[in-house]
Amino acid sequence: MTFRSTILITGGAGFIGSHVVRFFVNKYPDYRIVNLDALTYAGNLENLRDIENKANYVFVRADISVEKEVFDVFEKHKPDGIIHLAAESHVDRSISNPTEFIYTNIIGTVNLLNAARMLWKDQPGGKRFYHISTDEVYGSLGDTGIFTETTPYDPKSPYSASKASSDHLVRAYHHTFGLPVVISNCSNNYGPNQFPEKLLPLFIHNIRQNKPLPVYGKGENVRDWLYVVDHARAIDLIYHRGKDGETYNIGGNNEWKNIDLIRLLCKLMNEKLRRHPGTSEKLITYVKDRAGHDLRYAIDSSKLQNELGWSPSVTFEEGLSLTIDWYLANQNWLDHVTSGDYQKYYENQYLKR
Ligand code: NAD
Ligand code: DAU
Repeated sequence: MTFRSTILITGGAGFIGSHVVRFFVNKYPDYRIVNLDALTYAGNLENLRDIENKANYVFVRADISVEKEVFDVFEKHKPDGIIHLAAESHVDRSISNPTEFIYTNIIGTVNLLNAARMLWKDQPGGKRFYHISTDEVYGSLGDTGIFTETTPYDPKSPYSASKASSDHLVRAYHHTFGLPVVISNCSNNYGPNQFPEKLLPLFIHNIRQNKPLPVYGKGENVRDWLYVVDHARAIDLIYHRGKDGETYNIGGNNEWKNIDLIRLLCKLMNEKLRRHPGTSEKLITYVKDRAGHDLRYAIDSSKLQNELGWSPSVTFEEGLSLTIDWYLANQNWLDHVTSGDYQKYYENQYLKR
């Protein structure tokens, strides 16, 4: 079978990446989707069982921080486009072990940029390097204000500093070498298949097991939540219609103070698990704050809405309910990803606080 285009998606076995891979494989049967992933603790091919046998899907295990592995994949598959999601993504891990973030998020991105530059040097037309980034590169807001595409970068954690560095490098390759790049910076995603080290899946898992809910500090930090499939829809639009060299912010316009979100989650979990009102709330436990904890993120996504016509398709009530139902119905998935190494990380992160 011949395909119209080959797209290399990095990090496709992870949380957001698996939703993006599924979206593209199903929507574009005439694209060949190559999923490159190292399968770290966060990568799980079970996320893609429903599409793994499709004719337009290929999985390749490779580590983007190893130049030769990246060049070999480019040599073999000759992608026309790259959607780059592979990263170390958890802020707390970046505080306990920053170096891994430098290798994957910075060196890994440079390896991909170099490989794309080499492959496309004679035929740059119709090619695209799409780098997926985060709102955390803009730093932290006070009680007011909002991040736009021109907000100066001010990353505060090793994770966000490594993402900021990769964003700068992607822009530098556009400016210096004319590489056809586009970048988006998104707010907090939630939904099925998120590794239970992040707030929502961790707390759903703990409520179900009657374990404490470790709220950092006073729970006053604010995040802007977006359903993961709406991020995948935005990525589709930006990949196809975004302008070279441009940046697009993606967000849910859906700010929640952590403690308010956690109380809402407790209420919904009580209802879904048929527990008495107030039962899950008793698990709330205030613990030592995250070092350098960013107070508030809020994203202005009006450029994406006005120029490309995107808007979220799922309300927060629907998305949260779908998400809880998914984790409750997929205990096997949770059991698999919470065994082994993750258990050790969990003990270090929480049981020593
Ligand atoms: P994740 O941690 O769930 O998945 C990351 C994936 O990358 C995993 O499959 C992992 O195996 C793979 N990976 C890690 N190191 C690799 C390496 N060296 N080589 C190849 N593969 C490697 O992450 P996520 O939450 O899905 O985030 C995906 C991307 O989106 C990241 O770039 C992140 O910065 C960005 N982002 C995430 C959010 C969010 O709320 N989760 C919001 C905005 C942007
Ligand atoms: O804003 C986008 C970013 O969102 C992405 O770039 C990151 O990859 C992603 O991990 C996420 O970062 P956060 O640090 O905001 O997400 P996390 O789920 O770790 O935490 C959300 C909030 O909840 C944050 O204020 C810290 C707090 N928290 C988190 C955990 C895991 C707790 O209070 N207790 C916890 O146990």
